Amino acid sequence: METIIKKAGALKPLPDDSDLAFGTIFTDHMFNMDYDPDNGWHSPRIEPYGSFPMDPSTMVLHYGQSIFEGLKAFKAPGDRIQLFRPEENFRRFNRSARRMCIPELDEEFALKAGKELVRLERRWVPSAPGTSLYIRPTMIAMDPFLGVRASYTYRFFIILSPVGAYYKEGFNPVKIWVTEKYVRAVPGGVGEVKTAGNYAASLYAGEEAHENGYTQVLWLDGVERKYVEEVGSMNIFFVIDDEIITPELSGSILAGITRDSVIALARKWGYPVTERRISIDEVVEAHGVGRLQECFGSGTAAVISPVGEIKYKDKKLKIGDGKVGSWARKFFDAITDIQYGRAEDTEDWVHPVE
Ligand code: COI
Repeated sequence: METIIKKAGALKPLPDDSDLAFGTIFTDHMFNMDYDPDNGWHSPRIEPYGSFPMDPSTMVLHYGQSIFEGLKAFKAPGDRIQLFRPEENFRRFNRSARRMCIPELDEEFALKAGKELVRLERRWVPSAPGTSLYIRPTMIAMDPFLGVRASYTYRFFIILSPVGAYYKEGFNPVKIWVTEKYVRAVPGGVGEVKTAGNYAASLYAGEEAHENGYTQVLWLDGVERKYVEEVGSMNIFFVIDDEIITPELSGSILAGITRDSVIALARKWGYPVTERRISIDEVVEAHGVGRLQECFGSGTAAVISPVGEIKYKDKKLKIGDGKVGSWARKFFDAITDIQYGRAEDTEDWVHPVE
């Protein structure tokens, strides 16, 4: 299948790299492709970025049959552009598609399309420290229909956004709020899927966190409300007695690619790293006796995000001395050095965009 390229007539002015936020600016072009049962995935095209018409009855608007991914293109020395483990994103995209009854894509083709778009938009890859070009592949149900079933037609699109830090704190400790009242996902549900509804479901508890001065919600398991799951925009790690602990992939948390990279590096460096159930009580107890050394999150958008405080019930667990901890720093440096081409890609994680 050949991707048709229709270039934009006038190009947008580039933003100033040094004041990029997250997800507010979009580039000149986007990738689009459609699915219907007779033609399968067809008509791949790169065209000017813009809105597309949707019937008010379009199924995605009503029943949320929608999935997405998030990955980044980085500017490396010598003006090279590189992607970080993109094949993992497209593999997970197809896993999400299966679970949400969306027809799967040819992963190689989708990755090639993403690279082609980034190549065309290379002037948009920012170079200021900590910035990158965020890539958002998305698939949505397009049938104009109000009955509840899987749609027959779909749109796959990729948009690009030059970004800075995800949290306003940047690479500084964030405060997280453990909600006791709400849950994000349950076993057998769609917690491990990158689907729109998971994020919608998280908003109410997020507001509660913000009203209390916290950046994000730390979710507990949906059954016992006892075991730590994830933060919603990132996976979570604890360091207790020099052991790096992260909740196991139970089916209700996202299998983060940055999470996997942290685990791979920790193993390579010979540090004890365990994927297991960890209860919030264990975290509180470890903190109480001074054994909780660090806590940090990991995610594509969030990269490595140190956690400086956890609020649970009436307890405020202050972690570290208000500064970035040494483990978070170590993983942040190692991962970003590979992403930005400052260190050798010993793990074969980087894909050049020629
Ligand atoms: C990412 O880390 O890329 C995400 O998708 C999280 C988020 C911005 C919702």
